[in-house]
Amino acid sequence: MDTLNYIILVPMVYLSSAIFIAGMIYRITSIFKKPVLTIPLRIYPEKNPVWLYTLIDTFLMPQVFKAKPVMWYFLIIFHGSVFLLIIGHIELIQMFDIFQIIEHDVFLGKGFIGLSLFVSLLYFLFRRFTPQAKHLSVLEDYILLTLLLMTVILGSEMDWARTWFGFQEMTVEDYQTYLKSLLFFKPDISDVTYSGHSFMLVFHVFFANLFIMFFPFSKMMHAIFTIPLNKIRRG
Ligand code: HEM
Repeated sequence: MDTLNYIILVPMVYLSSAIFIAGMIYRITSIFKKPVLTIPLRIYPEKNPVWLYTLIDTFLMPQVFKAKPVMWYFLIIFHGSVFLLIIGHIELIQMFDIFQIIEHDVFLGKGFIGLSLFVSLLYFLFRRFTPQAKHLSVLEDYILLTLLLMTVILGSEMDWARTWFGFQEMTVEDYQTYLKSLLFFKPDISDVTYSGHSFMLVFHVFFANLFIMFFPFSKMMHAIFTIPLNKIRRG
């Protein structure tokens, strides 16, 4: 069991990070190698300033709001929560105190970030089975949503256990020690593997690793390409 914990919490994290970085470089450079579009692709009416409308299209998604208001609501909740979730994970490495300008607990949101992500992901997954979305869905959509759902359930469970039910055996400081040790290539998992609850972290990191490896080769790349694409659409 100890060996399995170690494999998932150490070499698998390094492997998934390496695949993520190499995959991102490969995907981005291969896009730049493609021939440049010679005709302007102004799908939406040109409005100035173009950059402002590009950012509005990207972050407020007015076209989705018009067509599917319920979907829009979940998309906004989901992406807002992902933003706060990224801050939470960066704070687990304890290298960037900048976020503590406004003092708060790590994680932000007292467990409700995880809950919002969980509810939104359930909506996105069940939506895939409706007649309108079913025919447009491919295997990748289900894999991606399932991986995210598993990662989010397990991560949230740890947070809820700690903040809602007073299960304080593994603390934020323990997570920080583990993640810092990874960052400095002196892996130490002792602080996060002694508890009966540790298997939750091991499962969480296992699914997170799969998700991170899959990211550059999946639709998740929209996270990188949405702003440039909206800019092209706006002219
Ligand atoms: C190797 C990468 C990762 C590590 C080491 C990691 C570790 C952790 C830890 C230690 C917690 C804190 C649990 C607590 O508060 O007690 C946590 C929470 C969480 N993680 Fe991760 N995580 C990773 C990647 C991810 C990814 C990729 C996702 C989702 C896409 C994710 C989603 C969550 C969620 C939803 C929470 C709960 C947040 C909340 O309820 O406020 N994690 N994670």
